[in-house]
Amino acid sequence: MADDLKTADAFATSWNNLPAGSVYTHEQFEDWFAPLTRADAEGRTVLELGCGNGSLLFHMARWQPAQLEGIDLGASVLSARRNMSAQDNPRWVVNQGDLTSYRGAPRDLVYSIGVLHHLQQPRIGFESVLANTRAGGRFHCWVYAREGNGVILWVVDPIRRVVSHLPWWFTKYAVATPLSVPYFCYAKLLRRFRRWTWLRRLPLFDYSLWIAERDFAFFRHVAFDQLVTPSTVYLDRATIEGWLREHPRVKPGSTYVIFRNGNSWKFGGVAQ
Ligand SMILES: C[S@@+](CC[C@H](N)C(=O)[O-])C[C@H]1O[C@@H](n2cnc3c(N)ncnc32)[C@H](O)[C@@H]1O
Repeated sequence: MADDLKTADAFATSWNNLPAGSVYTHEQFEDWFAPLTRADAEGRTVLELGCGNGSLLFHMARWQPAQLEGIDLGASVLSARRNMSAQDNPRWVVNQGDLTSYRGAPRDLVYSIGVLHHLQQPRIGFESVLANTRAGGRFHCWVYAREGNGVILWVVDPIRRVVSHLPWWFTKYAVATPLSVPYFCYAKLLRRFRRWTWLRRLPLFDYSLWIAERDFAFFRHVAFDQLVTPSTVYLDRATIEGWLREHPRVKPGSTYVIFRNGNSWKFGGVAQ
């Protein structure tokens, strides 16, 4: 918990220093949730574990859940509440708390996107996702993959281990910003020449095409997000399949594990 708090404080420096609104487009949001769709949330009770500045809650509200709650350990709840106040949908609440021990009324849909891989014990986070999902309800998670992230593991992660201990403004402006420039050019070039099939062998090809849709500010946000956190693990497919197979509350035959953008995993299913 103490180490998760360090992570949450680091993220709050990221989330609380952004312009108002969601950092994601609605299209990105839908892509993160597929195979889930609006029908899985509309009129239902929905919980996000690790909601940051409410960037996903913001779009989830448009799917008209009956009740929407976000939990985060850090001070990013302040910007999450500010962002959600701008919503037409009034049925939301953002609470500050530790997701690993959080137990509310079981919900129809529980999701955790970009969070479990930052916990000291990712599996405990996964158990909390299940513990908060009602029998027959759905759960959905997204994590960094060990597969397809060689460059990140060998180049970016060692930098993160050092700069995550430095002041956030230094990491953002003196490290993340200049590092984003060459990657921004690389991703835009890959997108421009994406039909050249041999380019597909280059590192982060699929991911780069995805992020190349966005402007430089988003690249920098992602780079800062990667570098500011003191704790990150990269999860392989076998680990996720093991979690799904071994957890007694996961309904057999209901699960999916999807490799997303060549470097991350979306997974979920139905609780029993
Ligand atoms: C990368 S952000 C993801 C935010 C949001 N899900 C999104 O995709 O935009 C990870 C978030 O998890 C939160 N977090 C980390 N450990 C936590 C814990 N133990 N309990 C609750 N939130 C936690 C951090 O504060 C941070 O806001």
